[in-house]
Amino acid sequence: MPIIERHGRAKGMGSDMAETLEKLFDEEEIREAVKRLASAISTDFGGEEIVLVSVLKGSFMFTSDLAREMKGRVIIDFIRASSYGCNTTTQGTVTLTKDLETDIAGKNVVIVEDIIDSGLTLRSIREMLLARNPRSLKICALVDKRARRQVEIEGDYVGFSIEDGFIVGYGIDYAERYRNLSAIFVVQGK
Ligand code: IMP
Ligand code: MG
Repeated sequence: MPIIERHGRAKGMGSDMAETLEKLFDEEEIREAVKRLASAISTDFGGEEIVLVSVLKGSFMFTSDLAREMKGRVIIDFIRASSYGCNTTTQGTVTLTKDLETDIAGKNVVIVEDIIDSGLTLRSIREMLLARNPRSLKICALVDKRARRQVEIEGDYVGFSIEDGFIVGYGIDYAERYRNLSAIFVVQGK
């Protein structure tokens, strides 16, 4: 476990994990944001059934908390889009490496994503899911990073908006690390 120091910094263990993390959103702020999002989604759909499409891996923790805060009937399924790997810059094309098991035709679908950055991932996912004729398709993103947007895409439900910065924690990784942290941190110098 990384050591979280009093002033909000977390240091990775071992000499190969030299990143310094600065706390950006704590557990309480995240809980409040998730509650707000769940309540907005539940209100918008009334009593109708909702399919939450969780985009692995980054949104697993977010999806789990969001689903628990939602009222009414909720179906949860997962997709995995080809990702950054260990790099922190995006590539243009996105493929699904794990598809849904649920038929979303005629269903109310909410894509649950950790971060919108360039927007390329969500644009591709949205197009792929729209082709399956859902009744409605919305986007719920925990963090909207605005500075590097390349395509016009907006989250319908957004937890936090930030300009830029590489973040980790609460499911979000840097080279597969730090997903287990329960707060969100900025990786210094990235
Ligand atoms: P986009 O296609 O550029 O919008 O990339 C979105 C995906 O890149 C997110 O779902 C994350 O998986 C990853 N990503 C973007 N920014 C960050 C970050 O700050 N930390 C960790 N992963 C990120
Ligand atoms: Mg992701």
